[in-house]
Amino acid sequence: MHRKKFILSSVMSAIALTTFGSVIRESNGEFKGDCETTNDILGPFYRPNAPIRSDLTYDGLKGNRIILKGSVFKSDCVTPLKNALVEIWHCNTEGEYDNESKDFRQRASLKTNENGEYVFKTILPGKYLNGELYRPSHIHYRVTKSNCKELISQIYFKGDPHITKDPWASDKRAKQRVLQITPEDINGNLTINFDIYLSEK
Ligand SMILES: [Fe+2]
Repeated sequence: MHRKKFILSSVMSAIALTTFGSVIRESNGEFKGDCETTNDILGPFYRPNAPIRSDLTYDGLKGNRIILKGSVFKSDCVTPLKNALVEIWHCNTEGEYDNESKDFRQRASLKTNENGEYVFKTILPGKYLNGELYRPSHIHYRVTKSNCKELISQIYFKGDPHITKDPWASDKRAKQRVLQITPEDINGNLTINFDIYLSEK
């Protein structure tokens, strides 16, 4: 991302904190916040060693293309973390996970860049049954970085009617992870922004 744009998005991120947390500047000049991203269940479909890639799409893949991007910050809520490992996995439009193939479809990992940023291109996931109820559309995250606590989490999408009866998505701790889908991309891809705040060990 262009540096000027990144500075702007950092400011936006800091402002956004006011919706679910706050940042205090301490006497030593350091920031201390309560912006830490909340965790969620790992679920049964995590596979380690997903390929390092940004683009999870391929010819013939069904589904609305999304750009999923954000930055990873340390617990002061403002300092970007480079080289954090961001892993994502989700189901396809039929609600199926790729649990066995060597292609690791709809699974990827990558490290954040110098500015703490990551970006994936994938599809909006479908839904699958959990008992008699559909889980809302969601994407799983695992984020790891030396000297930080491992984050296992999930994101959901505003307006999804299956959120209210889902015990995890409807939890108040998930509120900051129910995200807006926006048409900001010039090529018609949908965009989802998810900034991540880790806590130190
Ligand atoms: Fe899942």
